[in-house]
Amino acid sequence: MTTANQASPVPAAAAGRAVDPRLHAVVERILGDLHAAVRDLEITEPELRAALGFLTEVGTVREWQLLSDVVGISVAVDANTHRPNGQATASNVEGPFYRPDAPLASPPVTLCGDDEPGEMLFVSGRVRSTAGEPLPAALLDVWQTNQRGLYEHEDPSQPDWNLRRRFHAGGDGRYEFRTVAPTAYQIPHAGPVGRFLAAVGRHPWRPAHLHLKVSAPGHRPLTTMLYLDGDPWLHDDAIFSVKPELVVALQRHERPEDLAARDLDRPFATAAYDFALEPFS
Ligand code: BEZ
Ligand code: FE
Repeated sequence: MTTANQASPVPAAAAGRAVDPRLHAVVERILGDLHAAVRDLEITEPELRAALGFLTEVGTVREWQLLSDVVGISVAVDANTHRPNGQATASNVEGPFYRPDAPLASPPVTLCGDDEPGEMLFVSGRVRSTAGEPLPAALLDVWQTNQRGLYEHEDPSQPDWNLRRRFHAGGDGRYEFRTVAPTAYQIPHAGPVGRFLAAVGRHPWRPAHLHLKVSAPGHRPLTTMLYLDGDPWLHDDAIFSVKPELVVALQRHERPEDLAARDLDRPFATAAYDFALEPFS
């Protein structure tokens, strides 16, 4: 990156003190790649001013996380940070809409009121260790949009904490909760990140999904998402985070005996998913 008569913008040592080697490696590489792009693409001053103005606005409206999401950096960093041993459930990014300390629910667990609009959905399965043992003390923390694709914190028509709950798995690691099927939604796109997406010819849609955090003593906590099979955006997610092993199929139930078994007066759907957590070694 440097020329014979130019000092490096990232010296390995300054004023006799070594710079943190990791910081040095990261900054040197990123600046090196940026310099190469500026040189090869012959970036001009008006283009630099436009870029700096954009990045300043991204910070002002607090969209740095969103920018990292839509350019695929969040997913890449998630993959570097959580490397499962092949048996554990795949992780996924948290996204910007998690609220810690959701209400703790006991069985039968429901994420919303009985009158929540949308397709009633029961999600069930088991939480196990990758060695196969059930994890009865597992805690699940679930959040999702309503059927209009809105999280409760961005929609004054929903009750506080709607479609956000924490609950424990049962004695054999089994869990079940009732909710409504989420739908595809558009990530925030009224600000600079939305303008960026439009400028590069991209859309802001995410396929329908549920977010989950699953944790148990002695095991690596998992943050992930479950995607609903058949969603039109499954192969074109605005943040590139769909993993095939996290896609679940919905079974539809309409027969009177199925409704009677659950004491329901309307059709419902079910989805099954087992989680596997990796023990701390
Ligand atoms: C989400 O799934 O909640 C989300 C993730 C990244 C950006 C925006 C929303
Ligand atoms: Fe989401």
